[in-house]
Amino acid sequence: MRNLTSSELRKLYLEFFRSKGHAIISSASLIPENDPTVLFTTAGMHPLVPYLMGQKHPEGRRLADVQKCVRTGDIDEVGDASHCTFFEMLGNWSLGDYFKKEAIAYAWEFLTSEQWLGIPKEKLSFTCFEGDKDAPRDTVAHDRWVEMGVDPSHIVYLPKKHNWWGPAGQTGPCGPDTEIFYDTGKAPCGPDCQAGCDCGKYLEIWNNVFMEYNKVADGVFLPLDQKNVDTGMGLDRTVATLQGVESIYDTDAFAGILSVITNLSGKHYKDSPETVRAFRIIADHIRCATFMLGDQRGVTPSNVDQGYILRRLIRRSIRFATQLGIPDGKLSDIAVAVIDQYGSVYPELEENRDKIVSELDKEQQRFTNALKKGTREFESLVSKMEGTQISGPDAFHLYDTFGFPVEFTVELAAEKGLTVDMDGFKAAFEAHQEKSHAGAEQRFKSGLQDNSETTVALHTATHLLQAGLRKVLNDDSVSQKGSNITPERLRFDFSFPRKVTPEELQKVEEFVNEAIAADIPVTCEEMTVSEAKAAGAIGLFESRYGAKVTVYTVPGYSKEICAGPHVTHTGELGRFKIKKEEASSAGVRRIKAVLIHE
Ligand code: ALA
Repeated sequence: MRNLTSSELRKLYLEFFRSKGHAIISSASLIPENDPTVLFTTAGMHPLVPYLMGQKHPEGRRLADVQKCVRTGDIDEVGDASHCTFFEMLGNWSLGDYFKKEAIAYAWEFLTSEQWLGIPKEKLSFTCFEGDKDAPRDTVAHDRWVEMGVDPSHIVYLPKKHNWWGPAGQTGPCGPDTEIFYDTGKAPCGPDCQAGCDCGKYLEIWNNVFMEYNKVADGVFLPLDQKNVDTGMGLDRTVATLQGVESIYDTDAFAGILSVITNLSGKHYKDSPETVRAFRIIADHIRCATFMLGDQRGVTPSNVDQGYILRRLIRRSIRFATQLGIPDGKLSDIAVAVIDQYGSVYPELEENRDKIVSELDKEQQRFTNALKKGTREFESLVSKMEGTQISGPDAFHLYDTFGFPVEFTVELAAEKGLTVDMDGFKAAFEAHQEKSHAGAEQRFKSGLQDNSETTVALHTATHLLQAGLRKVLNDDSVSQKGSNITPERLRFDFSFPRKVTPEELQKVEEFVNEAIAADIPVTCEEMTVSEAKAAGAIGLFESRYGAKVTVYTVPGYSKEICAGPHVTHTGELGRFKIKKEEASSAGVRRIKAVLIHE
């Protein structure tokens, strides 16, 4: 297997497809044109949708590219070995030209031929679409892999939720796909571990989508006039595989960026689990922010839409930079390392070098000022107060006006031997919530019988329950059908086609109890529906586009559009226990659960 740098892989991929008659097109902007449903380009196919639908592309019917993409749904997970916000997707496209047989032969040749990547055949596994009422089982793809020389034991059929690709929840071009996995050599996680399992043994490196349908409504798939191929290979991930390293952050693409962070902080990436996480978060977020600021249709930090996501990335980087001891105002040095790494491939970064640096500096200044003003206000509050406790309304004022997280106020207070009235803070927070929601356009039905402490705790538990169900049942179609909460118990109805097994219920309980044990602060943000969607929040997206909704987050566990109220920390919940799981109506299950305080 060849050990390639990321620029070598980028070049080699395009060279391979050029040799197969593909025109190389440049990356489109990160900001989709004429598409208000998403904030960023999330896959290579996004800018090409009109051509997949039949419009003639000026460069022909065979194209290849490296597309800049951003996905912010997992922003809070960045810091582990695999998550990132910005990524580059290598893709080859047939717009009504070749189809499954050729696409699979190309993929096979590129991956396994010594002249190209030279990956040993036995390290590869494949998944194909198993078929359902909308489209037949993809035996063509399966049989083609076998013709290439793949042992049938390395090919599995999986349902739509794994092997189907199209704009999520929307109408448009879509179809079955075949996914290619690299076996990392790790031990299987159990007897059912196979390609498609997410335990980390099988790493997905390439997806080949056969776009032959147009989804016109839920469950209605019409054949497209032209059959297309859309493929996507994650550049960093494949490079990590070829270089045999543990994460994308250990590839050559990040070396220069991480070394600037080392110079600024005096710490090393691998010093401790905390430095690993902080280095990765800063490297990812500043890389992403640099690409957003330096985009053809550049973004600047703001409180809405793309600008809000950019602001969040920058402010989150500042938090972790401070944690590493990086002096104020130095993030632009890291952005310069990003420009140096990518400028030759993406000339827009070079063209916008000054803008990237100055916008980052300005945003850092703004955030530092907000923090400074807040700290001054804090000092003045403290000098005027009597006793040793900061009142709830004062803590809320710091939160609301200066963006001070209440945990921050608690820390500052502790330095002075003071405490914060957390119950009072909660009350002020909730009163504000109620006021701001009275006029909000959000439609919600959280089914709370009252606002007592135990009911509110069960409400937060309901969010964790839904997140746990979606995780354990591995099914994004699990969605809330009803909720009814009394001080004694929660009752949650959700879409799911079969009984949930006792093992699965136990896993869901463990998921919820893990979140409780971690005592995580529950955060609340106001944003537009599109921002909520982009942030990966679940819930009803029925409000008018642009309308503000509130999103409650238990970082790392749950993110949901909801009008509250909720507890401030998951540790307040006690132990979560599922009492009953039963059918509620056709395709809808019902769970009753309680919180036990020992
Ligand atoms: N559009 C497909 C994907 O993003 C290739 O996985």
